[in-house]
Amino acid sequence: MSTKVDETYKPKILAFCCNWCSYAGIDIAGITHMQYPASIRLVKVMCIGRIHPDLVLEAFARGADGVLIVGCHVGDCHYIRGNQFAESRMTDMAEMLEGLGIDRRRLKIGYIFAYEGKRFSDLVHEFTREIISAGPNTLKVLT
Ligand code: FES
Repeated sequence: MSTKVDETYKPKILAFCCNWCSYAGIDIAGITHMQYPASIRLVKVMCIGRIHPDLVLEAFARGADGVLIVGCHVGDCHYIRGNQFAESRMTDMAEMLEGLGIDRRRLKIGYIFAYEGKRFSDLVHEFTREIISAGPNTLKVLT
């Protein structure tokens, strides 16, 4: 049985991005006119190590179809190991999401350097395709 993809579906994706390498890379993407899907909403945080799982859960509860977390590469975190902490936390979080009936593919973590605008654009395109194939988040419980 094949799954039909709704071509009109525009997912809502919330992206938490760290203030340093990540946001600088996003700026490069913008400055160099790289395109990425408009369905993404950016939230700047000082470090992705500061993202509490409750924020991710709230995003899904409020109707986000996907949550993308973007930080500095391992070894480049401005707070030493915040990105490694975030990865560990999000791995645990993915299991928790499964328990709540949320497809773990809806949560993704990625890393970019300050000059990697193209990498950011590619990451958003790839994640958007994954979320489109997963379909709308049906968990929305908060308004
Ligand atoms: S400052 Fe970028 S991940 Fe920590």
